Formats: sequence, structure tokens, C-alpha cells
Amino acid sequence: MKSYSWILPLTAFIQATNAWSPSDSYAPTEVSCERNGTLTRNATGISNDEQAWLEKRDAITENAMKTFLTRATANFSDTSFLDSLFENSSYVPRVGIAASGGGYRAMLSGAGMLAAFDNRTRGANENGLGGLLQATTYLSGLSGGNWLVGTLAWNNWTSIQDIIDGFDDSNTTSIWDISNSIISPGGENDTYTTERFALIKEQINTKYEAGYNISLVDVWGRALSYYFFPDLKNAGDALTWSSLRDFDVFQSASMPLPIVVADNKYPDDTQITLNTTVFEFNPFEMGSWDPSLHSFTDVKYLGTNVSNGIPTDEGKCVVGFDNTGFFLGASSDIFYGALLEGYSTYINVIEKEFLTANQSVNTEFAIFSPNPFKDTKYYDSSVTSSNSDSDSLLLVDGGSDGQDIPFIPLLQEERAVDAIFAFDNGDDTTENWPNGTALINTYQRQFMPQGKNMAFPYIPDATTFVEQGLNQKPTFFGCDSSNLTSLSYIPPLIVYIPNAEYSYASNTSTFTLSYSLQERLDMVQNGFEAATRKNLTEDSDFLSCVSCAVIRRKQEKLNITLPSECERCFQNYCYGYKSVNVSASSTNTSSPSTQGSKTNYTVSSAKADASSSAFNTVSTTTTASAKANAAISLSSNGILSYLSALLCIFGMF
Ligand SMILES: *[C@@H]1O[C@H](CO)[C@@H](O)[C@H](O)[C@H]1NC(C)=O
Ligand SMILES: *[C@@H]1O[C@H](CO)[C@@H](O)[C@H](O)[C@H]1NC(C)=O
Ligand SMILES: *[C@@H]1O[C@H](CO)[C@@H](O)[C@H](O)[C@H]1NC(C)=O
Ligand SMILES: *[C@@H]1O[C@H](CO)[C@@H](O)[C@H](O)[C@H]1NC(C)=O
Ligand SMILES: *[C@@H]1O[C@H](CO)[C@@H](O)[C@H](O)[C@H]1NC(C)=O
Ligand SMILES: *[C@@H]1O[C@H](CO)[C@@H](O)[C@H](O)[C@H]1NC(C)=O
Ligand SMILES: *[C@@H]1O[C@H](CO)[C@@H](O)[C@H](O)[C@H]1NC(C)=O
Ligand SMILES: *[C@@H]1O[C@H](CO)[C@@H](O)[C@H](O)[C@H]1NC(C)=O
Ligand SMILES: *[C@@H]1O[C@H](CO)[C@@H](O)[C@H](O)[C@H]1NC(C)=O
Ligand SMILES: *[C@@H]1O[C@H](CO)[C@@H](O)[C@H](O)[C@H]1NC(C)=O
Ligand SMILES: *[C@@H]1O[C@H](CO)[C@@H](O)[C@H](O)[C@H]1NC(C)=O
Ligand SMILES: *[C@@H]1O[C@H](CO)[C@@H](O)[C@H](O)[C@H]1NC(C)=O
Repeated sequence: MKSYSWILPLTAFIQATNAWSPSDSYAPTEVSCERNGTLTRNATGISNDEQAWLEKRDAITENAMKTFLTRATANFSDTSFLDSLFENSSYVPRVGIAASGGGYRAMLSGAGMLAAFDNRTRGANENGLGGLLQATTYLSGLSGGNWLVGTLAWNNWTSIQDIIDGFDDSNTTSIWDISNSIISPGGENDTYTTERFALIKEQINTKYEAGYNISLVDVWGRALSYYFFPDLKNAGDALTWSSLRDFDVFQSASMPLPIVVADNKYPDDTQITLNTTVFEFNPFEMGSWDPSLHSFTDVKYLGTNVSNGIPTDEGKCVVGFDNTGFFLGASSDIFYGALLEGYSTYINVIEKEFLTANQSVNTEFAIFSPNPFKDTKYYDSSVTSSNSDSDSLLLVDGGSDGQDIPFIPLLQEERAVDAIFAFDNGDDTTENWPNGTALINTYQRQFMPQGKNMAFPYIPDATTFVEQGLNQKPTFFGCDSSNLTSLSYIPPLIVYIPNAEYSYASNTSTFTLSYSLQERLDMVQNGFEAATRKNLTEDSDFLSCVSCAVIRRKQEKLNITLPSECERCFQNYCYGYKSVNVSASSTNTSSPSTQGSKTNYTVSSAKADASSSAFNTVSTTTTASAKANAAISLSSNGILSYLSALLCIFGMF
């Protein structure tokens, strides 16, 4: 017998689920399921929802791509190839952008790079690659790069230009107002800071009281949200990931599909390696393409107790678990790496500040419990069954496996991406510059059991990478399909865009947790210049060369004659390009002849280094906020840096 008192609130809840969390707080809520049957599926292809959305997006990118390519190739002697490309919608090149991790450095430098692609940026059509973002289908991010992607997408696809125009020196509510560090949001005002953290504690407690495990990642996600969603009530404690589906700008497919990446730790593993399961969160689903899971679930109903995707309590589903800030925190989770490095004492101190004793289990992970993939059977048991067996799914920073650029979602053959623009704002070298390690790791992964469904072009080792200056300016990888035929499939062409110094020393420490207004502007401007070869001044052909990279896969597939201008571009920008007209000696010859061979399993040494590299320690000192300045000079690198600074929190209490 159902009483009115039970039915009425339920009806109200169902209406409210159209947008934000029905609890209007951080707490997940039980509702009646909007659909019967399983919430999970085999990862055999993209979801029906994504397919339907893509049809809308493709119609938009087709026109935008035509506009961009027409502009970019205006000086070509013969542009008839454009007619061939736009003869049929299925010939139109598909583009993805991947934004690496690296804390605020990656967020800000990545923002400048992205701004160079965005026709909403002043000057991007004259000095940059303006309009290419409008023609982009997928935008992925991890860690600091996911802050960039998440901020834009869940703020109704705002632009970098708008964010910058909104910067002001007051302490009000502009997006990315990081003049004060995340650990002392009030600056000198300790009352403000204390109040902020008390609020956060209250917010995460609502989730705990609703019966869910909470961890330091909940704290982290809430704390970050104040910088990404400052205008929303409680910085969006009720803003859900799946609510993007209801935003007009997403429904009309006027923005790319945002995808955020996190890694998983198997219960028995002591270390996260390249064979860990890489998870993606898109607005429809979360899950993994990897053989170790090979499944996706509806992101909206995370938190529901399921067996093989069927709610164990028939007809009852949970909504509101998919908090946007929580996912952004999961992708940038620093705590697990810190634990590995022996900082458990420090972690305990932070735990004590935010979590009560009975909440302190697995606190260094983003806890997805109940496990949405419990009892699913889509995995390859020769790899592992633990993603399906365990009661909780524990996720960590998307760069923990050494793949600091979120390529995996964009490489999936089903998504049919032709070119990926890869922003590398990582800190591989001791001076915080990238050296190709992220690319190398993704290249290597395809030779491991977990990589059997993926393909990636040949990448030289880090020494060659640095010696040839490939980390100094944009480089194209995988220009020749004919050279990639031994891989699982022909992967997209990679346009690599590394962080490098133009107008500003943008190799700031990942440790830097506050940037003044001027520093933020300088970082963004430098990123713009890094993505455009200094506003096309170093090479006025760069814009047209980018268009050659974009059309390359379709040009090869359709056997369209390569424009002669592109031939010159490929000689300049392609690693290991085998020119058709020019003798091989004039091209780069340092690639091994076994390039791309699936049978060349050279993983061990480079891999072993790579898997631990995310946790390597390098001596760094920092200038964070006034508070952080106080004492800390911990050995640190990458994700660890955040932790070290966050540790200063306890100085505050
Ligand atoms: C679920 O299935 C039951 C019984 O088959 C049906 O009565 C109900 O309407 C279905 N609910 C939804 C949301 O489809
Ligand atoms: C940007 O590109 C889109 C798609 O091509 C177009 O509709 C829009 O008008 C452009 N905006 C600006 C400011 O150029
Ligand atoms: C490059 O273009 C950007 C965007 O228009 C601008 O902010 C920056 O000042 C330019 N840089 C140089 C060196 O001209
Ligand atoms: C996005 O825009 C819609 C109006 O189209 C508004 O209702 C919603 O609150 C906005 N979302 C955010 C996160 O600002
Ligand atoms: C905000 O700025 C004002 C001055 O503009 C200052 O007095 C106040 O302390 C600041 N508040 C915080 C929380 O930083
Ligand atoms: C410090 O922050 C508190 C809380 O926001 C505020 O009430 C107070 O006015 C601030 N103090 C100063 C000196 O600005
Ligand atoms: C991952 O690789 C490591 C070493 O290469 C191995 O010990 C571990 O069992 C592997 N884990 C899975 C889930 O394949
Ligand atoms: C999942 O799909 C794969 C094909 O990609 C197939 O081999 C496998 O049998 C399917 N698994 C289940 C449980 O249906
Ligand atoms: C590249 O970066 C990795 C990761 O930090 C480091 O181990 C390696 O020594 C670096 N190599 C070069 C040539 O810079
Ligand atoms: C591609 O086109 C060239 C002429 O442009 C022709 O010689 C060649 O046979 C074609 N190849 C295929 C596979 O169609
Ligand atoms: C691939 O490229 C390398 C040079 O980078 C060359 O030595 C090799 O012959 C090429 N392989 C094929 C199949 O074209
Ligand atoms: C595999 O490739 C590496 C370069 O990555 C090369 O040095 C090595 O000789 C190759 N091994 C085999 C067996 O072809």
C-alpha cells in the first residue's frame, strides 16, 4: 500500500530530476527509475544517445569546418580538394582536442591554447586558428585540463574570452579567481577561509548522511567548485554532470562533447600502471573501453545499487550522485599518489579535519560505491574481473598511469576522429616543461593487454624528443597511414602542441596554487602563442598547415591529391614523414624502421619508468599563497605538488 505521503514527494522528485539534484544539495536521492531494465551495456560502440547527439553536432561542424578550411587554405593554388571533401557529409574530417593535466598551469596555458581555436576570442581569426573549436566534435580533459573542460562546459559553454573579461581584482565571484589559493580562499581573512571550509564540511556531510561513502576527493571537488562555479548556489553543490543534457547549448549541439578521464585502482594493486582501467565520463555515460571492463553505465543513475546493471531494489534508482565538482575532483585526485609516496601522516591530518573516524575508509580515492559495474560480464577475464567483483570502484587522477594527455576516449575507432590536437602542459622535466612522456606512454599502451583495442602512431623516446626539439613547437605524428597499417586500425593524426615559452615563462610549478590577475592573463596569452607559433609570426603558413593535418586522413582515404602546400607543411611538421616528392634524406630519419609494428613489444623499461613517473619526486620549492608560504618545501612533482600545498590546510586550523 502506498500512502500519499510517499507518493507526493516522489512525484516532486521526478519533476526536479529534469535538471539539478532533486535534493537541492550534495546528497544523492532515491527516485523511481525512469526506465526499466539494465543501466549498463557492453562497450561495443558509442551509445545511442551519443549517436543521436552526433547527428546534430555533425551538421554544425560541417558548416564550421567548411568556413575554417576555406579561410585556412585561401592562399592554396588549387582548392578543389574542398569540393571533394564536402561532397558527402561522411567525408567531413572529425576533430578532437585533448587537454593535459598539470594543475593550474595546465588549466591556464590550456585555456590560451583553446582560445586560439575559438572564433569567440578577439584576434583568433586574425592571429590564430579561430573557428576550429567550432568545428570540433570532442573535447577531453584530465586533471588540470579537466578543470578547463569542466569550467567551460558546465558554465553553459562560456568562452575563455568571457572568463578573461570577467576577471577583476576584487574578491567577488569571477570564474578562476585564483588570486587566493584554494587552501586559503579568504586570503588574509581567516574567518572567510574557516567559513568556507565549514560549508564544505556541511555539504559533504549531506552525502554521508544519505548513506554514501565520502572521501577527501569529495572535499577536493567541493573546494575546487568555488573557482569554477562561483555564481551558483553553494558553488553548485547540486549541479549534476547529467544536467548538461538539459542545457540548451548542449541540446542544440552548439558545443563539443566534453569527456573527462580518471584512472582506476584494482583492489589488489599497489601501483597504478599503464594497464590500469582508464575511465571516461561523458554527459551520457561513464565507463571504460578497456578489456578489463568494456562497459558503460548511465551516468545519471550512479549511486544506484545494481547487479549486472539492474537495480537490486526493483524500480528504485538514485540520482544526484553525479555531482559535477565531484567528477572534476576525481579526475584530479592527488591523494592516492601522495599515499604511495609515504605521506599518510599528512593525509591523516587532513582526514581528521574533514572526516569523522567512521568516514575514513579509502579516503584517498574517489569512491564510487555501490559499484555501478557490479556483476557485469563484458570484461575479458584474462585481464581481470575485479572491476566487476568489487563492491566499490575507486578512481584516481587521470594522469596516474603516466598518460597525462586524455587520448584514450578520442582514439576509439568507433568515434572516428581524424585528427587530435593534444595540449601538453605537463611537467616532465625538472624545469616543468613537457618532454613527450605522455605521448610515449599512450604509444606503449597499445602493446599491452589493455591496449588491444586501441592504436596510436609511433612516438620516439624522450631523449630523441627533446634533442629534436619536438617539445618546443607543434609537431604532427602519424602523418602517413601507410606507415601505420600494422596497428589495430589507422589511428588519428596527432597534432602535438607543447607548452613552451613565448611571452611568458609558463613553466610554473604544478605546486603554484595562486595566480594574480596579471599572471593569469600572461599564462593564457602565452598558451595562445604556443598554439599559433606566436600568432603566426614564426610561420605564416602554420594555419594552412593545421588545415592539412585536419584533412589528412580523409584525403588519404578518399585518394584526393594532396595539395602541394600540404606536402611542404608535412615536411616541416610531421615526425618521420616520408615525402612522396622529396628524397627521404631530407626528412627526419630517426624513426626506427619497425615503426608502428604491433609485434614490437618494447614496453618493459620505458613502461616501468613511465608508470612510476607520475609519482617521481623532484625537489621543488614553491610560492603558493601567504599561508602556503609559511613552511612547506616538500619534495614533489606533478600531482603530489597539490597535496603538499593542500597539507598547509592544517596550518590554518
Ligand atoms: C517498467 O515495467 C513495468 C512492468 O512491465 C511497467 O508497468 C512500467 O510502466 C515500466 N516502467 C517504465 C518507466 O518503463
Ligand atoms: C564562429 O563560428 C560559428 C560556426 O562557424 C559561427 O556560427 C559564428 O558566427 C562564428 N562567430 C564569430 C564571432 O565569428
Ligand atoms: C597574440 O594574439 C593574442 C590574441 O589576440 C594577443 O592577446 C597577444 O597579445 C598576441 N601576441 C603577440 C605577441 O602579438
Ligand atoms: C545555463 O543556462 C540556462 C539557460 O539557458 C540556465 O537556466 C542555467 O542555470 C545555466 N546553467 C549554469 C550552470 O549556469
Ligand atoms: C575583499 O576585498 C576587500 C577589499 O577590496 C578586503 O577588505 C576584504 O578583506 C576582502 N575579503 C576577502 C575575503 O578576501
Ligand atoms: C572576512 O570574511 C568575513 C566572512 O566572509 C566577513 O564577514 C568579514 O567582513 C571579512 N573581514 C574583512 C576584514 O574583510
Ligand atoms: C598490470 O601489470 C602489472 C605488471 O606489468 C601486473 O603485475 C598486474 O597484474 C597487471 N594488472 C592487470 C589488472 O592486468
Ligand atoms: C561484448 O561485446 C563483445 C564484442 O565487442 C563480444 O565479444 C562479447 O561477447 C560481448 N559480451 C557480452 C557479455 O555480451
Ligand atoms: C622526460 O620526463 C620523464 C618524466 O619526468 C623523465 O623521467 C625523463 O628523464 C625525461 N627525459 C628527458 C630526456 O627529458
Ligand atoms: C589514387 O589516385 C591516383 C591518381 O591520383 C591513382 O593513380 C591511384 O591508382 C589511386 N589509388 C586508388 C587506391 O584509388
Ligand atoms: C615508416 O616510416 C619510417 C621513417 O619514419 C620508414 O623508415 C619506414 O619505411 C616507414 N614504413 C612504411 C611501411 O612506410
Ligand atoms: C623495436 O623498436 C625499437 C624502437 O622503439 C627498436 O629499437 C628495436 O630494435 C625494435 N625491436 C624489434 C625486435 O624490432
